[in-house]
Amino acid sequence: MKWLHEHGITADAIIGAKTKDLVILEEQFKKVCNLYVTTDDGSYMRKGMVTVCLDDLVHKEGKSYDLCIAIGPMIMMKFVCKMTKELGIPTVVSMNPIMVDGTGMCGACRVMVGDEVKFACVDGPEFDGHLIDFDQAMQRQAMYRTEEGRAKLKQEEAETHHGGCGHCGGDK
Ligand code: FES
Repeated sequence: MKWLHEHGITADAIIGAKTKDLVILEEQFKKVCNLYVTTDDGSYMRKGMVTVCLDDLVHKEGKSYDLCIAIGPMIMMKFVCKMTKELGIPTVVSMNPIMVDGTGMCGACRVMVGDEVKFACVDGPEFDGHLIDFDQAMQRQAMYRTEEGRAKLKQEEAETHHGGCGHCGGDK
């Protein structure tokens, strides 16, 4: 947002939080963009998920967007992408939530982007959100939490289980 502001590009930001106490960086955002805050419980500003706010901005306030950047929990990014796909807004997501070691070696951040296997930590973390298989990524994220799940994934995915460091190519 700071970069866009410095380059004279107007941007809207939607911050979503469960409650008022969890809203962060409000003042910093206000300095560089049009800020919309929404809380799940309605304890501050708008009420509802960020997708409700986005829907209002587009359909009730007549806004249009060239690009959407979604950063946050997987479930939020999934539904933002579903909505922006319908609206025809190109969308970039950051797949940080599925990263664990950040070295390409653990296999936690393996994600299908279109037909390709990618690793968020070495190939991203930003990807075209409309190509991400969020359901698979979230299912995998849950499996990765247990030793049994990790073993199953390692067996099923074989040589594509981890991504290598991204530099030597030896582990690909
Ligand atoms: S975070 Fe471990 S492979 Fe990417």
